Amino acid sequence: MSEQKATNITWHEGSVTRDERQKLLNQKGVTVWMTGLSASGKSTIACILEQMLLHKKKHAYRLDGDNIRMGLNKNLGFSAEDRTENIRRIGEVAKLFSDAGVIAITSFISPYKKDRDAVRTGMKAGEFIEVYVQVSLSEAEKRDPKGLYKKARAGQLKGFTGIDDPYEAPEKPEILIETEKTNAGDAAAQIAKYLEDRGYLRE
Ligand code: ADX
Repeated sequence: MSEQKATNITWHEGSVTRDERQKLLNQKGVTVWMTGLSASGKSTIACILEQMLLHKKKHAYRLDGDNIRMGLNKNLGFSAEDRTENIRRIGEVAKLFSDAGVIAITSFISPYKKDRDAVRTGMKAGEFIEVYVQVSLSEAEKRDPKGLYKKARAGQLKGFTGIDDPYEAPEKPEILIETEKTNAGDAAAQIAKYLEDRGYLRE
């Protein structure tokens, strides 16, 4: 699905460098990659983090699973192959945002380790920050804001992550959010602090 099809193409370098864009924005381009079960709180944390960064005059932009699946990835479903392609495309988009100097915040289940690792490999060291938004399956089922776990348990939704489809948790994420111990605001602050401490919020 993702093999190189076009031939006779050449990479065209621009005249503005990434460093120049970062100077302009007074920040570093980076991808904050949130992964976790449905209902773990990825999107909620992403929204708060985006706003927190805006208040610090930092340019961040969210790429969200459900939203992207209504547009760019509307032709993809939830088979293993489609999930892989979903993550590959988002990885490419996030890479463009990072290169533009923006802080890209992605919230996708991204259940397969190899798919997340492939995105990481495609970026520079320090450009990909994996955030494991951890929740137990029982707590996710209790929250069930969209009623999807209930549907999956009733057999009305096949291949739902955590029920009858796999989720491979990160082994060494840069940031671990334990959502049963932390609220969404504190989680966003934890990520913002990580970015601040490591110099991402200045050029
Ligand atoms: S991913 O696995 O390819 O990373 P993504 O994050 O884009 O998934 O989309 C997950 C969202 O799609 C869930 O939050 C849920 O609202 C919805 N969804 C619908 N069907 C499924 C399914 N079979 N498995 C997981 N999520 C699903």
